[in-house]
Amino acid sequence: MVQTIGFIGLGQMGEPMAHNLLKAGFELSVYNRTRAKAESLAKQGARVVDQPSQAATPGGIVVTMLANDAALEAVVLGPHGIAETLGEGGTHVSMSTISPETARRLAHEHERRGSRYLAAPVFGRPEAAAAAKLWICVSGADAAQNAAAPVLQVLGQGVHAFGEDPGAANVVKLAGNFLIAAAIEALAESLALGQKNGIDRTALAGFFAQTIFACPIYQNYGRIIATEQYEPPGFKLALGMKDIGLVLDTAQRSLVPMPLASLLRDRLIGSLAHGRQDLDWTAIALAVSADAGLR
Ligand SMILES: NC(=O)c1ccc[n+]([C@@H]2O[C@H](COP(=O)([O-])OP(=O)(O)OC[C@H]3O[C@@H](n4cnc5c(N)ncnc54)[C@H](OP(=O)(O)O)[C@@H]3O)[C@@H](O)[C@H]2O)c1
Repeated sequence: MVQTIGFIGLGQMGEPMAHNLLKAGFELSVYNRTRAKAESLAKQGARVVDQPSQAATPGGIVVTMLANDAALEAVVLGPHGIAETLGEGGTHVSMSTISPETARRLAHEHERRGSRYLAAPVFGRPEAAAAAKLWICVSGADAAQNAAAPVLQVLGQGVHAFGEDPGAANVVKLAGNFLIAAAIEALAESLALGQKNGIDRTALAGFFAQTIFACPIYQNYGRIIATEQYEPPGFKLALGMKDIGLVLDTAQRSLVPMPLASLLRDRLIGSLAHGRQDLDWTAIALAVSADAGLR
């Protein structure tokens, strides 16, 4: 029997993910605040609904891929939220990058209503989402992990479980995004050093990408920073600010000094002050170059 699932949040990540679910044979009810973004999915057969609550069916599965904690909370608990309709035995697969605390609170709210919450944040940019190559981290009750498995299998190249605490997968995601942001800063500084000394940025990034830093983060981000192609954004700088803010909030709650994360926050704040919120988050490298007198 064809399973109908709900999908909420058709941004740069959500839209290609929803397309992959349609291609895999799921029937989809989709909701996006800006309805126009649902058009291409509607053409492929998705049912477009007017309220988040209409995307969820009692006892079914609903996936969310939204910008931040506030957007997710509004879609779950706000007027016409999915908490109203998901019902007994329903599963909310929550794939946005949000705080571990929000994940735990939403898990509790679902539990009170007899539904389940699975934290399932992802690594991979929109190209990876389109190619169904996301790396997915999950945490939550076993029943939620089992219910979501057929959906997650379609969206990613691997699913890694981190136990029952609904906040755990989000801690993993924040730890990973901190590593990526630190790599961006390190690459930007390293390429500025090379450039100031007459070494071509692309040649330098390419050398590292093929040899001692032959991993996707250094390869992909190295190319973007070397060529300074910060538009169109794969991951908007404003969302990067949100994530480093979440990293530092979590670090403060758990009393973990993260001086490097503090530096990254300042880079991001400065970039926002220069109006770079809609560039890719690698555009923090512009400030590195400017500090080196390269711009
Ligand atoms: N882009 C990446 O490389 C990447 C990778 C891994 C994880 N992520 C995470 O995935 C999530 C989505 O990222 P994205 O790049 O797809 O972002 P995006 O393109 O900015 O899309 C954000 C989505 O959230 C919706 N939204 C924002 N505020 C809302 C509100 N108050 N109420 C209802 N809906 C709201 C937007 O609706 P509208 O269309 O109406 O604005 C849109 O559907 C974020 O948590 C991000 O951190 C992104």
